[in-house]
Amino acid sequence: MSQLATQYLGLKLKNPLIVSSSGLTNSVEKIEKAERAGAGAVVLKSVFEEQINYEAAAYQEVSNTNAESFDYLQGYVAANNLDNYLKLISDSKKNVNIPVIASIHCFSDKRWIDFAKNFEEAGADALELNVYIQPMGRNISGTDIEKKYLNLVKKVTKKVSIPVSVKLSNQFTNLVNITDKLYGVGAKGVVLFNRFYEPDIDINKMKMSSFDVFSNPEDLRFALRWAAIISDEVKEIDIAASTGVHNADSAIKMILAGADAVQLCSVLYKKGVSHIREMLEQMEIWMAKQGYDSIKNFKGNMSYKSIKHPELYQRSQFMKYFSNYE
Ligand SMILES: Cc1cc2nc3c(=O)[nH]c(=O)nc-3n(C[C@H](O)[C@H](O)[C@H](O)COP(=O)(O)O)c2cc1C
Repeated sequence: MSQLATQYLGLKLKNPLIVSSSGLTNSVEKIEKAERAGAGAVVLKSVFEEQINYEAAAYQEVSNTNAESFDYLQGYVAANNLDNYLKLISDSKKNVNIPVIASIHCFSDKRWIDFAKNFEEAGADALELNVYIQPMGRNISGTDIEKKYLNLVKKVTKKVSIPVSVKLSNQFTNLVNITDKLYGVGAKGVVLFNRFYEPDIDINKMKMSSFDVFSNPEDLRFALRWAAIISDEVKEIDIAASTGVHNADSAIKMILAGADAVQLCSVLYKKGVSHIREMLEQMEIWMAKQGYDSIKNFKGNMSYKSIKHPELYQRSQFMKYFSNYE
């Protein structure tokens, strides 16, 4: 067994580097390529709840999306039907030995949930729910929105027997509390965090524009803080750190903070999937230098409660940090 071997969602991984849900995992060929590059697992590109639900009427019933995005969605749905997705799962499972995690982009607890079992039957080793409910509306409280997440996850975990993880937004008031509640309704893991489309305005063309879709290495620290805190506060749940992991050092930091696995996306678009191999080699070099012969020897060694000054993960340090600059 390799010294990088680990477990995530109860699945045996030959190493903790997982290819994130994205265009990098939308075909069997790409998934085989990820395996050859050394990936410990893959999360397939998300299928949208609307693709599962698809019937215009059903869709309109559960969404308040505008006409333009509805048109886009119809085109998307036409090109990506559910059967193709189920075939992607089963063909991937036939062709690779690493765990294949299916991903569903969802926001309602409506009829799509009846199909959740199909992913399991197609051979998925786990389900990652990319849930996002836009927290807006004058009369909707944070608690109301959290209830929706919990209902949705509870319904899914009741339908399937494979492990379910939830890819979280970083916009919860208390990430520890929501993680604990997700664990309570059956989630086995959380992915910290999802990355969203962020609107911008081009003031010269008077048009909407959007921010760079890819993360930068500096984007790592929000997830680092919460991996460190959640791994101690909700020990029962597994954590996959995602966002800003671009090299071996960042992956090591996430594991030191307490993550069970690390998901990679932007860096693989920028440097190619073969970058996984390089990261694994560098992780092994670091482990040898530090005298660690397995992941569990250092996982969580720098978590919130493991360090001498846990407040360094807390906001109170903010003041101190800025007061160094007059
Ligand atoms: C081009 C692109 C496509 C993505 N598609 C999906 C998707 O289908 N489902 C999903 O859950 N996340 C998707 N993501 C988000 C990534 O899985 C990942 O969570 C995010 O990019 C943060 O990780 P990174 O910093 O390594 O890029 C996508 C990201 C990119 C850049």
